[in-house]
Amino acid sequence: TTNRTFTMIKPDAVENGYVGPIIEKITAAGFKIVALKMTRISRADARDFYSEHSERSFFGELVEFMTRGPIVVAILQKENAVADFRALIGATDPAEAAEGTIRKTFATSKGENAVHGSDSNENATKEGNFHFSDREKF
Ligand code: CMP
Repeated sequence: TTNRTFTMIKPDAVENGYVGPIIEKITAAGFKIVALKMTRISRADARDFYSEHSERSFFGELVEFMTRGPIVVAILQKENAVADFRALIGATDPAEAAEGTIRKTFATSKGENAVHGSDSNENATKEGNFHFSDREKF
C-alpha cells in the first residue's frame, strides 16, 4: 500500500553497532515497523537491486559493500512514508545531509551511507516483497 516504504540498514551501520540507534530514530519519527529482520543479499541480488547504477564507476564497489555482511531490512508504515522517510535519512552523501538526519548521524561516506530508503511506492512494494512473505508482514 502507498503508506509504506522499505528500508535496509546497510553493512557499515550493522558493523558499527548502529542497528538499535537507527531503529530508535525511525520509530521516534512516527514510523511503525510492520516487518523486520537481519539477512544478507547475494552479489546477484545486489547487482539486480542496483541495476540502474550498473554503468557507474562505483558499481563494483557498491555490490561488494552491500554483500560484505549482514543487513537489516524492514517495511515501515506512516502517512506519506516514501517521501517522509527519504527526508529522515537525508542526502546520499553524509557530508551534504541535513543535521539530525540518519545519514548525517550514522553514515560513513557517500558509498557506505548507513541506510536505504525506497524512491517510489512501486519500488517500496517490490523491495519489500523481495525480502518478506505475506506471513512476515503485519
Ligand atoms: P543509495 O542512494 O541508497 O543507492 C545508490 C547507492 O550507490 C548510494 O546509496 C550509495 O551507497 C552508492 N553511491 C552513490 N554515489 C556513489 C559514489 N559517488 N561513490 C560510491 N558509492 C556511491
